[in-house]
Amino acid sequence: MSAATDMTPTPASGKAAANGFATRRTFAIISHPDAGKTTLTEKLLLAGGAINMAGAVKARGENRRARSDWMEIEQSRGISVTSSVMTFEREGITFNLLDTPGHSDFSEDTYRTLTAVDSAIMVVDAAKGIEAQTRKLFEICRLRDIPIITFVNKVDREGRSPFEVLDELEEALALSVSPQVWPVGMGTDFQGCYDFASNEFLYSKTRANGTFDSVKPMSGIDDPELTKMLPAHVAERFHEEAELARDGYAEFDTDAYRQGHLTPVIFGSALRDFSVDQLLKLVARYAPPPRPQPSDKGAVSPETKDVSAFVFKVQANMDPNHRDRVAFVRFCSGHFKRGMKLNHVRSGKPLAINNPIYFFAQERALTEEAFAGDVIGIPNHGTLRVGDTLTEAEPFRFTGLPSFAPEVMRRVRLEDTMRMKQLRRALEDLAEEGLVQVFKPMIGSNWIVGVVGPLQLDVLASRIRGEYKTEIGFEPVPYSTARWITSDDEKKLRDFMKDNVMQVAQDRDERPVYLPKSDWELRYARERNPDIRFEETRELV
Ligand code: G4P
Repeated sequence: MSAATDMTPTPASGKAAANGFATRRTFAIISHPDAGKTTLTEKLLLAGGAINMAGAVKARGENRRARSDWMEIEQSRGISVTSSVMTFEREGITFNLLDTPGHSDFSEDTYRTLTAVDSAIMVVDAAKGIEAQTRKLFEICRLRDIPIITFVNKVDREGRSPFEVLDELEEALALSVSPQVWPVGMGTDFQGCYDFASNEFLYSKTRANGTFDSVKPMSGIDDPELTKMLPAHVAERFHEEAELARDGYAEFDTDAYRQGHLTPVIFGSALRDFSVDQLLKLVARYAPPPRPQPSDKGAVSPETKDVSAFVFKVQANMDPNHRDRVAFVRFCSGHFKRGMKLNHVRSGKPLAINNPIYFFAQERALTEEAFAGDVIGIPNHGTLRVGDTLTEAEPFRFTGLPSFAPEVMRRVRLEDTMRMKQLRRALEDLAEEGLVQVFKPMIGSNWIVGVVGPLQLDVLASRIRGEYKTEIGFEPVPYSTARWITSDDEKKLRDFMKDNVMQVAQDRDERPVYLPKSDWELRYARERNPDIRFEETRELV
């Protein structure tokens, strides 16, 4: 958020809005750290006219990941918030780019963000191929049938052969690949990229280290003009490769892509801006508009007349001077207008949405309307939680936003016991954001927190210090994880809780949770109590 936050209402999105949801492309970028996600985001925003200077998104590379710097960046709330969702328009299409947290620790938050997109761009480093985090995120996309466009980045550097990368994609991810834009030379031989669909050669007039600035239409890959422009050995190799690439891989097929069986592949360089425009065009042309979203009453089509939406992310303390929160809401149907009263299904109460905020790259503004696919922020004082559904007509609940069992558990130690109230507030707020899960043991008074990855503990302590002026430490607990316990037989559940009172706690919604000390103990408890379900995830709300 810029200091000069513009809160004057603006028409949501001009011409695109008039066409409603069909013009929305809501997507995320998934990648392994360092593959170039930040650079590509920046260049996409530049291509979409959302920013006019590269380097504006956030700090990059090692700097960002160095732990302390990274947390400082997280703490300067404006930056992390404006990059949670970035909306921009081009040629009548409204792009909503949702940021997935870069660090592997935040899988839960990432998972939830991916519930709010209709497609994804997977960035792969040409030299490294598919890395651990890419694969993990890819699996989440596959689970949710999210179609993927692949951007093989850094072709201006020495990398693996494009064929090696394509074959790896095909084999490791069990996907058909369809190359769309091909590198002309790589590393020191890099001359530009060739777009197979439009038969255009993308090159740099200034050559060495130059950024892409020229497009030359060609009659085909054999155009003598192209051969003339390239060093002989590069031209020869390109012809050979291009023929093989076009003959040896699947042709692009919109249905296969949208069903998640095929990924179009673009080779390019985010840093030097090669193929970024081609990527944006591909998203505009082929990425799916808003898809039906699952709910407890069946899938909700974006064509449904009544407005419906769900909260996939909550950010507390965006503005440290006001204890406000912003709930990020994805619309799934209808035509929302500012001031509308929607049912807040969890509480059963109506909620007037008077201050819906659109997030542009560097600023935010009130918006007058939104369609399915759009993502807006709703400032509130804690009413809205992750997983909440908002509806215009009959109440129902969107499904598929789970909470995962934590893998790291700690007891919270309060350094100054006078600050109990602040601690409770902090844990409630940050649990609501999804940063941490909070458990209250049946016996004993200290809170137990659970996270999916250990870095989250550092972030937790640092945010409680910064935002709630409260020092905390962590102590080990003997528990290895947590399982939500439910049963159709109330008495059996009560008995189990009584027998295991030292290892039972409540989550923040007062649902009972069993805290086993080891996998073995969990297995044993399961065997001994066949009527009790030990659940690893639970649906939010
Ligand atoms: P991430 O968000 O996925 O973690 O990656 P990020 O964009 O921060 O990029 C990681 C590093 O890779 C950066 O270098 C960036 O400049 C570089 N990079 C990104 N795209 C390209 C590309 O197309 N070609 C080349 N050669 N490099 C690219 P850094 O040295 O870590 O940071 P910086 O000092 O350049 O900012």
